[in-house]
Amino acid sequence: EWTSEAFVETTIADLQAKLGDDKVVLALSGGVDSSVAAILLHKAIGKNLHCIFVDNGLLRKDEYEGVLEQYKHLGLNIKGVDAKDRFLSQLAGVTDPELKRKAIGRVFIEVFDDEAHQVQDVKWLAQGTIYPDVIESVSVNGPSATIKSHHNVGGLPDFMKLQVVEPLNTLFKDEVRRVGTSLGLEHFIIGRHPFPGPGLAIRILGEVTPEKVAILQEADAIYINNLKEAGLYDKVWQAGAIFLPVQSVGVMGDERTYENAICLRAVESIDGMTADWCHLPYQVLAKISNEIINKVKGINRVVYDISSKPPATIEWE
Ligand code: XMP
Repeated sequence: EWTSEAFVETTIADLQAKLGDDKVVLALSGGVDSSVAAILLHKAIGKNLHCIFVDNGLLRKDEYEGVLEQYKHLGLNIKGVDAKDRFLSQLAGVTDPELKRKAIGRVFIEVFDDEAHQVQDVKWLAQGTIYPDVIESVSVNGPSATIKSHHNVGGLPDFMKLQVVEPLNTLFKDEVRRVGTSLGLEHFIIGRHPFPGPGLAIRILGEVTPEKVAILQEADAIYINNLKEAGLYDKVWQAGAIFLPVQSVGVMGDERTYENAICLRAVESIDGMTADWCHLPYQVLAKISNEIINKVKGINRVVYDISSKPPATIEWE
């Protein structure tokens, strides 16, 4: 019978045998998989694991600081890299969803390559790839996906010449969560909703600008905090707000407004391949809508997405 404790014990021993005194780099995303991979490697090789956490400017509100803090508290040897401007400048004028993904993947590789380079004599690249990623070969979450789907763009970056170590590549998601729990990872990380590698860029329809990112971060934070307060966050598989670049008429006091809309998305799913929209209670939706319209400047309308996958997808882009 598979137990997380036995897995942890044998994996740490295997990693120590395989890696010896070698140095390893790993891209942390704040998600469950890369976090669990990092903790396992840290237990095995300590300071020889060099973690890199890139702020692409497309994370949730306060996420970069919050996650970095958690990781430091876990004792990881981690470097935070503020690359917001590099990502956002490459997204200027780009409206096509796939071109946005490509631009983000390209900048991620550049940034990660620069950083990995600074680790002297690094020999290995660790990734949080899990079993479903191996079979699909296209991972849906985390930086590993970005790396894989773009590795044929131009010449190979230096870090891709490293040997690859993937300690979770035999596990399913629920097993990764169990391993994380037995390693002492907090619910803050274990229970996080999946979040796409391109982040808020694919939740802003059309062109991404710093102003739209700021608006969406505020609205999304109100949404997610209300789900947590109502005890609904853990019951939902994935939730997030979407910025709709359509303007509609509203009234605020005696003033006519003509502003953008926010769409709320919440789904139930097992693996993201199919999904049903969540029947969130009306009073919770009402509170979220009021709070977003009253507090987020630039938004005068909130709508709820009642589409299931298929034929819709979870993300709007
Ligand atoms: P869709 O929108 O295809 O999403 O129904 C299914 C799951 O995949 C996530 N997703 C992505 N994850 N890079 C990622 O790392 C991407 O480009 C990407 N697109 C969608 C989405 O958040 C959902 O969990």
